[in-house]
Amino acid sequence: MSKNLINFSDLTKKDIYNLIELANNFKSEDSLDYRNENLFPDKKIASIFCEPSTRTKLSFEIAAHNLGAKFIDFDLSNSSMNKGETLQDTLEAMEMMGVNLCILRHTESVIHDLVKDFSNMQFVNAGEGSISHPTQTLIDLMTIHESKENFDKLNITIVGDLDHSRVVSSFIEAIEIVGYKSITFCGHPDLCKNFIDSSIGNFESELETALQDADVVMALRIQNERLSEKLSIGAQDYIDRYQVNIDSLQVADPDMILLHPGPVNFGIELCKEASKLENCKIRNQIFNGVGMRMAVLTKLFSQA
Ligand code: CP
Repeated sequence: MSKNLINFSDLTKKDIYNLIELANNFKSEDSLDYRNENLFPDKKIASIFCEPSTRTKLSFEIAAHNLGAKFIDFDLSNSSMNKGETLQDTLEAMEMMGVNLCILRHTESVIHDLVKDFSNMQFVNAGEGSISHPTQTLIDLMTIHESKENFDKLNITIVGDLDHSRVVSSFIEAIEIVGYKSITFCGHPDLCKNFIDSSIGNFESELETALQDADVVMALRIQNERLSEKLSIGAQDYIDRYQVNIDSLQVADPDMILLHPGPVNFGIELCKEASKLENCKIRNQIFNGVGMRMAVLTKLFSQA
């Protein structure tokens, strides 16, 4: 594993399996919580979120707390970046103050270049525009692994706004490392332009065909904040054609598991009833977020 976690080129297949195993090992005896391990009392972790977050930010904070590290929640809106200080200079100031690791979410593809200049502070990419979100994918792989033993036997269907999803980009990077049987991409063509001629999977515009025999179904929300122009499909038409719900899931494999990285716009890409099915693993994904982020922080600190 590299010193930073920016994308999946920082991880080998062995690293991915080791992280899943470590995250599971942090679970409490009853598997309902995570143990508190005072492993890193001298480490300072800061978060900078240039885009909103609930799951990623909170789970990193809880993970840091569980590991005994100090967590500094940097308030961007009240910082000197509002007086013109650059992100680079802000990060340099943090490094000089002794921050050991920065969890960074950004709207643009800048993280990879930014981190090159830092030798004493480590970085985790907590979501980069529509480019990547590696820790979310590690959580998704951990969640799949709880129900499905072999990644390379899986028919995976991903439905929704694929072009603007950082989750799908990282998921593809990772699944190429761990293996898969097939990937089907599905969604309105306005939202899947980069996937219509994909070399690693099939594009299917009909939801029912895309869900046929799927072992893993991942639904994704429309990233309205990233749309540059109005969609050519109306809201009700979109729901009728692309919503994952009890009816549309009938054709999937009976042991299919349903994922969504969140946040979910219930009633649009996913109906509430489907989220209550036993094979819907959205709650597991959120719970696994804490354990996987404990694992990522532990492995990164062991590289420092
Ligand atoms: N999945 C995810 O990144 O959620 P948040 O935006 O709430 O962190």
